Amino acid sequence: MAVLVTGGAGYIGSHTAVALHEAGRRGVILDDLSNASRAAVDAVRGLTTPDLAFVEGDAADVGLVGEAIDRYEVDEVVHFAASKSVAESVELPLAYFRNNLGSLLGVLAAMEDRGIRRLVFSSSCTVYGEPDVVPVTEASPIGAVNPYGWTKLHGEQVLDAVAAAGGLDVMLLRYFNPIGAHPSGVIGEDPTGIPTNLAALLMQVALGRRDRLQVFGGDYGTVDGSAVRDYLHVVDLAEAHLAALDALTTRTGATAVNLGTGRGHTVLELVRLAEEVVGHPIAHEVVARRPGDAGRIWADPSLATEVLGWTAERDLRTMLEDHWRWCESHPDGFADARTDPPRAPRLGGAPGS
Ligand code: WQD
Repeated sequence: MAVLVTGGAGYIGSHTAVALHEAGRRGVILDDLSNASRAAVDAVRGLTTPDLAFVEGDAADVGLVGEAIDRYEVDEVVHFAASKSVAESVELPLAYFRNNLGSLLGVLAAMEDRGIRRLVFSSSCTVYGEPDVVPVTEASPIGAVNPYGWTKLHGEQVLDAVAAAGGLDVMLLRYFNPIGAHPSGVIGEDPTGIPTNLAALLMQVALGRRDRLQVFGGDYGTVDGSAVRDYLHVVDLAEAHLAALDALTTRTGATAVNLGTGRGHTVLELVRLAEEVVGHPIAHEVVARRPGDAGRIWADPSLATEVLGWTAERDLRTMLEDHWRWCESHPDGFADARTDPPRAPRLGGAPGS
């Protein structure tokens, strides 16, 4: 039997495909490569097995997903395939709803047609919006504040309803801030176009690809005024997906679980530690807050330990060391080995339209 990993050529998906192999499980990658590279699939094969199955296409295509399920005897699904930039979702809300909800509905329809019940869904702490109380538990108020977060929130609502009707057992994994890379340095985050997330931009400055990092906000009520997030190692996150699949062998219905370390760090703390890791200063300046940012959010991960038997193991220094190893050896991400034509920036409309 096999695990279908939609979006499996992406940052977290590729690390999950490797973790599945390391656990002796068979993964099948399905990805339309709209935000990932074929070279990533090759890199994953290098870390797992050359015959790792890869299906190129859109997870919204029910027929394609169904064919993959039949061909590879899939009996479980991990669904990553989605667009994930908060900033881009504000500019292209319709494209985000079409892609993120369309891909989920395509996967669910194909699963239902074949009586496949077990699903792990890539959700996000952005469903909590700007929490009044931290740390955040799964019972904290829900209230996304941007289209990306709404696609995750609505995705969870769809999954809650399908699970309540009896057709699905699903883990709704609410990621906090994944950073880092596989310790081999062979796979890692490969942002398309200009990144918006902190770790990618920080490393571009460290590489000399960008003049300086803008620290968004120095007037939050935190230890140094910069915003607090719960950063977790992408390999810890990948391993949590395996634990979620295992938990679904006994746990029915829909279960939301926070995936974080339970420790918050400010942006400036991350910058200072990154300077130690890369061995030189990283130019940065504190500027105005970024609209829509929460000042402080970190997880109470106790339910993940209780339900999944999972706890994040890798510390912030390890996250940055592993992230730097990937970036230093792949300054252009997978572009060096990329066999795909250069990706044109998405100009609007549904991805792939
Ligand atoms: C982190 C902190 C910024 C860039 C992300 C994903 C979202 C979800 C949660 C998975 C913030 C600050 C950033 C910069 C900065 N993950 N920052 N200068 O906004 O927490 O959300 O993680 O679903 O998908 O978007 O992550 O990395 O953009 O920002 O000061 O140039 O770094 O203000 O405090 P965010 P981020």
